[in-house]
Amino acid sequence: MLRPVQDIFKPGGYPDLLVGLGEPDDAAVWRLDDERALVATTDFFTPVVDDPYDYGAIAAANALSDVYAMGGSPFLALNVAALPPDLPTEISSEILRGGAEKARQAGVVLAGGHTIQDKEPKYGLIVLGFAHPQRLISKSGARPGDVLVLSKPIGFGTITTALKRDLVDMNDLAEVVEWMKRLNKTASELAVEFGVRGGTDVTGFSLLGHGVEMAQASSVGLRISFVKVPLARNARHYADEFIFPGGSADNRLYFSPWVNFEAGIDEASQLLLFDAQTSGGLLLSVPLDRLDAMMDRAAQLDQPLWVIGEVVEGVGIQVSA
Ligand code: CO
Ligand code: CO
Repeated sequence: MLRPVQDIFKPGGYPDLLVGLGEPDDAAVWRLDDERALVATTDFFTPVVDDPYDYGAIAAANALSDVYAMGGSPFLALNVAALPPDLPTEISSEILRGGAEKARQAGVVLAGGHTIQDKEPKYGLIVLGFAHPQRLISKSGARPGDVLVLSKPIGFGTITTALKRDLVDMNDLAEVVEWMKRLNKTASELAVEFGVRGGTDVTGFSLLGHGVEMAQASSVGLRISFVKVPLARNARHYADEFIFPGGSADNRLYFSPWVNFEAGIDEASQLLLFDAQTSGGLLLSVPLDRLDAMMDRAAQLDQPLWVIGEVVEGVGIQVSA
């Protein structure tokens, strides 16, 4: 689909565009000078939860995440909204309030935007941030010997799909909503502070899908230990009932040629690893000699981080039980 765009804009013609026209990454990055680069991204989607405030906050956290995934600090955002004309004003304003309060929590000013009418609601942000051109985090920065660290659990897709089918326990939903609303700000700041160069955020393509992208962009292989991967509360329960969004099956179909599962990892577990996430955590490739200090600092800041595997020479992802 993007082929015509790639044909029109040749990477060689834009030396200050550090990230954007090559391998897909989380945001575009434009060098302003030796000390500063501008990070630009946009993301919006249809409602993942019923509560309009939470929907707005999750959409904003998710859009901001692509700047954090590049090691950037967001500072300015614009709303992008499509709302049904018959949607009560109270609901539309709650969506926008959820997004605005999340932006403020991130230290980002929301300075306008654009809204159109559409049958199905869509909401998200355009986000601009700054990063240091030499301290960018990208999908191509993972190196053999690094440790793979994840900053949120997975299984958000199975739980939000259970909500859509009226099968969800409200406590399970409440916990997953808190995770989706959580900013990746602290995880990103830690990564920059401890010299992480390889990373991405886990969203619609799943842990394994985004992992495959990172492995390919970095020309490395990944080893992930299934038991070390944190799961959202009771995600296992919904997975065992095979309640998954359509995207999870698509991810498995598309990415499984690059993934090898050790015997004993059942189908529900495999689908959890392919589960399409909304506003998931950062997947970071942490140099081994920085790991202990980074984990200590994360604990002081109440930032959860889970070691889930390692980066090796090779291709694709090997998942052990
Ligand atoms: Co991303
Ligand atoms: Co995105």
